[in-house]
Amino acid sequence: MDLQDELKKHVAAKAADMVQPNMVLGLGSGSTAAFFVADVGRRVAAGELPGLQCVPTSFQASVLANRNSLALTTLNEVDRIDLAVDGADEVDPKLNLTKGGGGCHTEEKLVDARADKLVIVVDSSKLVERLGQKMPIPVEVLPLAYRQVEQKLTDMGGKPELRMAKAKAGPLITDQGNFILDTDFEHLSNPGQLEEQINNIPGVLDNGLFVGLADKVLVGEEENGKFHVREL
Ligand code: A5P
Repeated sequence: MDLQDELKKHVAAKAADMVQPNMVLGLGSGSTAAFFVADVGRRVAAGELPGLQCVPTSFQASVLANRNSLALTTLNEVDRIDLAVDGADEVDPKLNLTKGGGGCHTEEKLVDARADKLVIVVDSSKLVERLGQKMPIPVEVLPLAYRQVEQKLTDMGGKPELRMAKAKAGPLITDQGNFILDTDFEHLSNPGQLEEQINNIPGVLDNGLFVGLADKVLVGEEENGKFHVREL
């Protein structure tokens, strides 16, 4: 296992300790959240979490939940979500996030925004001074409207790129059957305002800016060969 995976594993284990019996738990997406799902699965198998119900944020999360024998439910079947644990692509000093590297930020935002408590699990490479510094902002769009959304994002000063699939010809298709425009905003200074402006464009489902949602960020770090988890 490489260093980054070791950090992800440590931080995921810390978050798994926060899960309590009878909770409704939001399961995040991505490689760090995958370690978390496996850890929760181990606690369920050990009989430590009776009554736990999980709401997935993607097909990836629901497949992993099935493999780890976690009981699944859906957004429309629950009255609340007690805790959601999710990864992120970038975390700024105010705990605002960029998400959507895995193309599932629309569902992730539905679950993460609904949770009473949102805990983000990252390795230290995800900390940035400014969102958009390391990656463009993913914007999920209806396929029939991608050209006009592309134009609007360009008018707003962005540089949108249609995300292409890796093992399929043509664009990546999200879990909800849509396209993603990865949009570089060179001078992103007000993420809250930009999040709203992008979501106001007709044809946009949601974008990967998560502003004011995270309650806690757990950061996996390494120093002199020792792993530790810092809480922000
Ligand atoms: C999925 O769409 C993303 O928001 C992920 O949560 C994010 O990309 C973090 O993934 P990793 O834990 O794999 O870096």
